[in-house]
Amino acid sequence: MRRRPDSARSVDTLLADFGTDLPRQPAPTPEPGPERLFPRVVKPGGVRRAGHGWAPTMPPLAGYSMTSEQTPVLWPLIAGDDPPPTGAPMGFNTLSGGSFYCDPLGWVNDDTIQVTNPNVFVFGKPGRGKSALVKALMLRMIRFGYRSLVLGDVKDEYEDISRALGVTPYQIGPGMPGRINPLDHGPLAQDWQTLDRAETARRGAVLFNRWHALIRGLVGSQAVPFTPTESRVVNRVLRDLTGWTTGQTVLSEITIPTVWAALNTPTENLVSECRYDSRRDFLDSTRGLRDALGSLCEGELEGLFDTKSTFEPNWRAPIQTLSLSALHASGNEAAVGIALMCLNSWGQGMREMATPGDQRIVLRDEAWMQTRLGVEAVKTLDSNLRLSRNDGDIQVVTYHKPSDPLSAGDQGSQAAQIAKDLLHLADIRILMGQDHEVAAELGHLLGLTPMHRDIVTGWAMQDKGRALWMVGDRRYKVQTILTPLERRLTYTNDAIATPAADPP
Ligand SMILES: Nc1ncnc2c1ncn2[C@@H]1O[C@H](COP(=O)(O)OP(=O)(O)OP(=O)(O)O)[C@@H](O)[C@H]1O
Ligand SMILES: [Mg+2]
Repeated sequence: MRRRPDSARSVDTLLADFGTDLPRQPAPTPEPGPERLFPRVVKPGGVRRAGHGWAPTMPPLAGYSMTSEQTPVLWPLIAGDDPPPTGAPMGFNTLSGGSFYCDPLGWVNDDTIQVTNPNVFVFGKPGRGKSALVKALMLRMIRFGYRSLVLGDVKDEYEDISRALGVTPYQIGPGMPGRINPLDHGPLAQDWQTLDRAETARRGAVLFNRWHALIRGLVGSQAVPFTPTESRVVNRVLRDLTGWTTGQTVLSEITIPTVWAALNTPTENLVSECRYDSRRDFLDSTRGLRDALGSLCEGELEGLFDTKSTFEPNWRAPIQTLSLSALHASGNEAAVGIALMCLNSWGQGMREMATPGDQRIVLRDEAWMQTRLGVEAVKTLDSNLRLSRNDGDIQVVTYHKPSDPLSAGDQGSQAAQIAKDLLHLADIRILMGQDHEVAAELGHLLGLTPMHRDIVTGWAMQDKGRALWMVGDRRYKVQTILTPLERRLTYTNDAIATPAADPP
């Protein structure tokens, strides 16, 4: 086709000169193009205009070559893979933008995640949302068949979710009718007469060990030495009172007062079995032990742990909570600590025969109240946490700061050492906001890098529910999201909010 010279005029111009306008086909309106996020591509040098950051030369960029496994060493917290989407959806990972799921037992079973126990420690400054996070976890795990057991609710803050789930919370405290026997047999004594010798021996060992550990803890918390001699006496009394020594077909129920009475009025047999010269000698040597046990049946604790349990837990219920706020309100923190220890032992007993698949979240909120009672209290918690791999329970412990467990004893003492090791019994640690003062301590005890420390003291302090999740060797920056209903059920600021203000 020949190209029209520039001077040439078109046919319609020619006709227009003679007064005829040719009809025109309306030009189709162009379809709007797809909306582009970045409508203009800016070259690496920038836009050459005032105020547009144009650079005449590019700064030299260092290039590195490494595998994705090596990068997190140089750039920790670079958005890596999120944990698999199983378990409770907790919120989102602010680095990857993806949903973040919490599934402690699932993580233990996943070989690609370095988590070998399902224990969870939650640290955080008061009011940062530790309890709210645990409550959200409990509620969201119900759909996977998990049930929760709150061993000692010191502030009555789990009562709301318990009632919302249709379960009446159980309350114990001075002047209340509820009783818990920490020396309860639990389900282990069921059908005792039908068991064969091996099974009786196995169950007996579990029962006596638990009771022994509890009595050691209770006595030790009152700064009374518990030597192998005391240990022998207690073991003997426990076996005599239950009828184990005489091979009774049904184990008799025992309580702390019956153990105390047996020590106060020792039989000739007990005195000689424990190798004391005389009854007088026995009474003199066991005075500390007897007084320590006696004090548990008097004062603030009187009538709480010294008779048969009046509480029959319904193990099919989605949550069981034991409120201790009445005792807490009395202001006797030692009594609260002792009560927590008794509840621990009782709770452990109740879980000793858990059937496979009966999965629980066992919560110890404000655990520092228990551990600061001393080395024996720390040891009790320690043994509970070690058992979690056997019974499949998710043990959740909340603390204010990592040094809380260390208040169990002087720095460097045995209690402090065990308490420090306690921190390593949980492969899942959730660090919510903390003050700068705690940062160095955190870094030291948990091996945090300065970058992790900054997250805890900076970003996590800016909003509730923000936390650095340490899952095995992986780290995640997670914002927990509460639903409106959960916000209502987890609201704990009633006491400080003005009376007119409604919960958010
Ligand atoms: N992710 C969240 N989003 C919105 N509100 C939250 C979130 N987490 C907690 N809160 C609110 O913050 C308040 C304090 O939370 P919570 O009681 O769980 O703190 P805590 O760390 O357990 O405090 P304490 O150490 O005193 O027990 C509650 O009213 C709760 O509803
Ligand atoms: Mg709390």
